[in-house]
Amino acid sequence: MESAPVSDEIYQILDLARWAPSGDNCQPWQFEIIDQSHICVHLSLDPENVYEYNNGQPAFIAAGALIENISIASSIFGKKINIDRIYPAESNQVKIDISFAAGDNGASDALVDCIRKRSVQRDAYKNTPLPQNVRHELESILPAEMEISWYSGLHDKLGIISVYMCATEIRLTIPETYKIHNEMMDWKHKRSATGIPVAATGLSGMTRLLMRWVIKSPSRMKFFNKYLMGTLMPKLELDFLPGVACSSHFAVSWKHPQKNAHTIEEYIEFGRSLQRFWLTLTKYDMVMQPEIAPLIFGFYGAKNIDFTSDQKMKKLSVTLAEKVMQFYKKPVDQILFLGRVGFPKTAQDETKVRSVRKPLSELLISRTAEHC
Ligand SMILES: Cc1cc2nc3c(=O)[nH]c(=O)nc-3n(C[C@H](O)[C@H](O)[C@H](O)COP(=O)(O)O)c2cc1C
Repeated sequence: MESAPVSDEIYQILDLARWAPSGDNCQPWQFEIIDQSHICVHLSLDPENVYEYNNGQPAFIAAGALIENISIASSIFGKKINIDRIYPAESNQVKIDISFAAGDNGASDALVDCIRKRSVQRDAYKNTPLPQNVRHELESILPAEMEISWYSGLHDKLGIISVYMCATEIRLTIPETYKIHNEMMDWKHKRSATGIPVAATGLSGMTRLLMRWVIKSPSRMKFFNKYLMGTLMPKLELDFLPGVACSSHFAVSWKHPQKNAHTIEEYIEFGRSLQRFWLTLTKYDMVMQPEIAPLIFGFYGAKNIDFTSDQKMKKLSVTLAEKVMQFYKKPVDQILFLGRVGFPKTAQDETKVRSVRKPLSELLISRTAEHC
């Protein structure tokens, strides 16, 4: 059989790779196809977005997941990738040059089929313990300078829930998240190409109805939070119930405290391993939910950053940083990622309510002059 022209392969690779996860399904990337064996990923940073803490750390981790997907998808065509150059950030854009070359062996990556199947699960999982073999395989995926801690007992789960609830209180109260939540929550579609379908947020039907009314104006939100214990139901549904119902929570952290700021390359490397971690769970019919809000708001608290006009919430972010330190025994900026894993109560299938992706045609941009 004659092999397809390389350019066709590149389109197919990108078409699969675009299923990478990104914070709130923002898909902060576009693809420039330079020639038959080179592409440039244009990553957009959004410093106005309060969730994009530490100069866009979540976007870099997502970019790593995308690059790992590109690598896995390339293996279908017997190719491997190389990151040739990561340009320093300029006008909130980071460009990443990637080239394709012949792979070392002809086999495709065992995780290829998991790319489209993987999807975040925010509801309660079964309490089945994390199997030892899966745990070891997951641990072996992380870069050597990082370590993972697991928290499976009820006492630990309750400690983590208390940390998460503190972060939820902040994120659902501050005015800075109002516009973001409005844009991200998709009330119309069961499969949202630009946000998160409201039925996939983990909120119950009742709370969704209430939220739909509340989210229409900042003053409703304020009133609701002040007089109607507004964050109580979300905390119960988003933090408490799913927090108890899972195999295990986990924290990935740097083994050693940082001397200098970490580099974009390091976050991308972590993002690549996180994607393999997540796809490996998918391979075992397991699911995962990242839960990075405590890291974001704890980071602001620890660094005394003015992230909100709400002084009460700013104070609470300092408490959150202390809670993170107390529970995880590490300062918040040494922790890279938090999440929970488990077996879903209902089997994953392609048609379920989930975030989908923008079509590839919307992610392609025409060639710029700067590439050699
Ligand atoms: C860096 C990063 C951080 C994320 N943080 C969270 C989080 O804190 N809570 C959450 O529920 N999902 C989180 N997600 C998952 C995304 O919301 C999800 O991947 C995206 O909406 C696309 O949905 P899908 O994974 O089901 O395709 C995160 C994803 C990435 C890549």
